[in-house]
Amino acid sequence: DRNFTVLGIETSCDDTGVAVVDSLGNILGESRVGQESIHSKWGGVVPALARAAHEEAIACCVEDCLKQANMDVSQLGGIAVTMGPGLELCLRVGFDKGRQLAASHRLPFVSVHHLEAHCLIARMFSRDISFPFLNVLVSGGHCQLILCKGVEEFVVLGGTVDDAMGEAYDKVARLLGLCTGGSGGALVEQLAKDGNPDAFHLPVPMSNKKDMNFSFAGLKTAVSLLVRDVGGTQALEQRPQLRNDIAASFQKVCILHLHERTERALEWCLENEKDARHVVLSGGVARNESVRLCCQQLAEKFHFVFQVAPPYWCTDNGVMTAWAGVERLRFGLADDLEQVDVRARWP
Ligand code: KG4
Ligand code: ZN
Repeated sequence: DRNFTVLGIETSCDDTGVAVVDSLGNILGESRVGQESIHSKWGGVVPALARAAHEEAIACCVEDCLKQANMDVSQLGGIAVTMGPGLELCLRVGFDKGRQLAASHRLPFVSVHHLEAHCLIARMFSRDISFPFLNVLVSGGHCQLILCKGVEEFVVLGGTVDDAMGEAYDKVARLLGLCTGGSGGALVEQLAKDGNPDAFHLPVPMSNKKDMNFSFAGLKTAVSLLVRDVGGTQALEQRPQLRNDIAASFQKVCILHLHERTERALEWCLENEKDARHVVLSGGVARNESVRLCCQQLAEKFHFVFQVAPPYWCTDNGVMTAWAGVERLRFGLADDLEQVDVRARWP
C-alpha cells in the first residue's frame, strides 16, 4: 500500500493538539498547547475560556506542524478531526479549522471519535498489536474496558456508573489543596510515592458487584470526609506526610478496583474471545506508573502481551487523532463534510 500522511486536530477539551503522521507510523510534525494556567484558578475547565484559547492557538499549531513536516497542505492524504465526545464549543474550533483545510484543498475528511483515537494510538507505536485486543481506557472523562475487534468495531464490556478514574484523581487533587485546572492526577501520584498506602482504610468500590463496571464517586466522597475529619484542605498544607498518606491510600484503592475489574475482563476474553492476545492501556491515567504496573502484571498472569503508548501520547494529543485518521482512511472511511457535525455526546 502507498504511504500517505494525515494531519490530525484534537480540541475536545483543554489541549490544542495538532500533528502530521504518515501511514507507516512516523510522526512528521507535532504541536501541542495546554491550558492548565488558564483554568487553574477556577478549579476546572471553563468551556468559554477553553474555546478562546483553542482559537488563539489553532492556526499556529497547524502551521508549525506543516513546517516541521516540511509539507504543504495540498500534499496531505487527509484531514482528521476529533468530532466528539467533548466540549462542544471546543470541538467546533477544531472542526472549523479542519473543514476549512479539507475543503480548500479537496482533501478527504475523517471524523474521529476521541475514545477510538485513545484506543488505537498504541498500534502506531507497536505495530504487532492486532485485533481483537482488550483495551483498558482510563482518562479524565472515561473509564471503560473495551474489546477492540477492529476499526469501528468496539464492544464495551464495562464502564463507569458515575465518575471516571482521572476525574476522581482530579477531585482528590483539589481536596488535597493541589490547586489545578484539570489534570491533578500526576500531582496525586507524586504525593502517593512518599505516602503509606495502608494509613487509611477506604472502601473498594462495588466489590460485591461481580461485573466489569467502575464507580469512583463513593471513593471520592470517602476521601472528602477523611479530609474534613483531619481539619480540611487548608490544614493539610501544614501536614505534608498526612497528605501523602491520603494520596497513597486513595491510589491503592483505585488500583485495587481497576485490578478487580480488569481481571474479570481478562477472564471474559479467555472464555469468549480466544484470539485476543494483547492488553492495551490507554488514556491520560495510563501515565500513572502504578496503573501501568497493575495492568502489566495482570496481562502477564493471563499470558497476554501488555502494551501502552509512551506516556507523552497517553494524554490528549493530535497524533492520536491523526493516527485514527490513518487507520480509518486505510478502509476508505472518509466522511462527507456536508453531512457531519461535532457531537458533544457520542457513545
Ligand atoms: O486522556 P486525557 O488527556 O483527557 C481525557 O480524555 O479525559 O486524560 C486526562 C486525565 C486527567 O484526569 C488527569 O488527571 C489524568 O488523566 N492523569 C493522571 C496522571 N496523568 C494524567 N492520573 C493519574 N496519574 C497520572 N500520572
Ligand atoms: Zn482523552
